Amino acid sequence: MKSNSTAEIMSKYDKKAKGYDRMMAPMEKIGMQKWRKALVAKAEGLVLEAGVGTGANLIHYYPNVKVIGVDFSSKMLEIATRKLPQVQAEIELKLADIQDLPFPDNTFDTVITACVFCSVPDAQKGFKELRRVVKPDGELYFLEHVRSESAVLGKIMDWANPLTVKHSGVNINRRTERNIILANMQIIKVEKLFGDIVKLIHASPNK
Ligand SMILES: C[S@@+](CC[C@H](N)C(=O)[O-])C[C@H]1O[C@@H](n2cnc3c(N)ncnc32)[C@H](O)[C@@H]1O
Repeated sequence: MKSNSTAEIMSKYDKKAKGYDRMMAPMEKIGMQKWRKALVAKAEGLVLEAGVGTGANLIHYYPNVKVIGVDFSSKMLEIATRKLPQVQAEIELKLADIQDLPFPDNTFDTVITACVFCSVPDAQKGFKELRRVVKPDGELYFLEHVRSESAVLGKIMDWANPLTVKHSGVNINRRTERNIILANMQIIKVEKLFGDIVKLIHASPNK
C-alpha cells in the first residue's frame, strides 16, 4: 500500500507528464543539456537511471551501456518510451518506486539520477535502496538541486518549501549530501554547477 504522500507525488507527475518537456525547455537551453551529457558520460556497464521521467537523458547514453530506467509515474514513462527509437544504448523502462526497488542486492555498476531527490517522498529510504542495488565496487552520480548552504537563502528555501511541495511535489530544501551519507555511502566529489544549489555528486557505497 502506498503512503498518501507517495500516491500524491506520483499523481502530480502523472498530471504534469504531458507538459513536462515543454516546461523544462528553457532550463535545457541554459545548461541542463550540458549537465545531462556530463552526468551520463559517467555511466558504465549495467546502469540504473532512477526517476528516468520523460527520458531526457536517454539520447545521451553511449551504446556500450545497458540502462534500466525506472519511474513511479506511468505517464512520464509513456513519454520516455516515445524517445526509444532515437537512443543508441540498450534501454529498458520499468514502472517502479525508488523507495522499494524490484532488483536484487548488488545488481548495478552505475546508478544515475537527475533532479529526482527533490521529489522522492522519503529521500533517505530512496538512497538506501540505491545503496542496496548498486554493486560494492559500483558508482553513483546524482545531478540534483539541493538546499543552499547560505544561511539566508537556506532559510528562504525552508520557508518556501511547503508551497513548492503543495504546488508541484518538489522540495527545494533537501539536504541531499547528508541523506547520501546517512544511507551508508561516501561522497567522492561534489561539483557545484549553479551556485551551491545545483550539484553533481559522485558517491560510492561504504565497504
Ligand atoms: C523532476 S522529474 C526528473 C525526471 C528526469 N530525471 C529528468 O531529468 O528530466 C522527477 C522524476 O522522479 C520521479 N520520481 C520521484 N519519486 C520517485 C519514486 N519514489 N520512485 C520512482 N520515481 C520517482 C517522478 O515521477 C519524476 O518522473
